[in-house]
Amino acid sequence: MPVPASEPPNLDAALAQRIAEAADVVTVALDELLPRSEGPEARLIEAMRYAALGPGKRLRPFFALETGRLFDADERSVLRAACALECIHAYSLVHDDLPAMDDDDLRRGRPTTHKQYDEGTALLAGDALQTAAFEIMSHPDTHDDADIRCELVARLAMASGARGMAGGQMIDMIGERADLGQIARMQRMKTGALIAFAFEIPVIIARAGEPARHALHGFAQDFGLAYQIVDDLIDAQGKLDEAGKAVGKDAARGKANFVTLLGVGAARERVELLAAQCRAHLDIFGGEASYLRASVDFVLDRRA
Ligand code: IPE
Ligand code: IPE
Ligand code: MG
Ligand code: MG
Ligand code: MG
Repeated sequence: MPVPASEPPNLDAALAQRIAEAADVVTVALDELLPRSEGPEARLIEAMRYAALGPGKRLRPFFALETGRLFDADERSVLRAACALECIHAYSLVHDDLPAMDDDDLRRGRPTTHKQYDEGTALLAGDALQTAAFEIMSHPDTHDDADIRCELVARLAMASGARGMAGGQMIDMIGERADLGQIARMQRMKTGALIAFAFEIPVIIARAGEPARHALHGFAQDFGLAYQIVDDLIDAQGKLDEAGKAVGKDAARGKANFVTLLGVGAARERVELLAAQCRAHLDIFGGEASYLRASVDFVLDRRA
């Protein structure tokens, strides 16, 4: 049977290449967008660049770029918005690793920002990455329509704030024994909200219609939750040299998540169920979404 034109014979290999290419494009763009290390504040800028330009997977920007293709969204706009999102993600990791939070020494195979610099510098680098995100997003180069820029800024702020990432981190820190529903809400806030925003970027930029918005919203909700459960599985089962960060810490710290509550097998089953739901959400896009569909398993099978 002939293979449809949109699906190359080895979709996984093509997808891996597409993810790697997107990561390179994003790293170059971030490098250009972040300030240069000059002046007496150079140490802060160096720490920002260390945190943001280190070897992360850049999956959030990849999803924004890949989804942008579904809608023919302007690539330069999507790339800038995706870089803004990646700055927020980098800031969230810098603060997550601080002694006051997870107290981690290793991130992306290198010392965490506060280990490489110091705690005060890491705190400021996180703050300044957060504000850099909104500076990038609100700049006219992101989109010539100020209403669209405003919507992007507002949605990123909501995904990052008290009802999004920061709120989820608060619930994670409190660490009370919680039921599955409460944990799912926490995971959707601390990780799902920023992941979901990656899929929202092209929807906003291309002013996508309601059915597509709805389908992607459902997809992003399930995918964001699955992404964090996989991170928790990596913590429970992964190896430090593959993960690039310490493992086995969630159980030791008494963190409540799907893995510590249900065990590895049931958590993995939950990921499979969410992955099936994700694929179903993409049905309305047909063959156009073949890379996005393939990325579900590719990303959820990751070891780092
Ligand atoms: C790690 O995110 C923390 C979570 C929110 C799960 P990633 O696994 O996307 O980290 P990097 O950016 O590739 O380092
Ligand atoms: C962090 O979750 C989620 C964020 C919002 C940064 P984790 O604390 O599990 O992330 P890792 O394992 O340190 O990357
Ligand atoms: Mg944490
Ligand atoms: Mg952590
Ligand atoms: Mg983790």
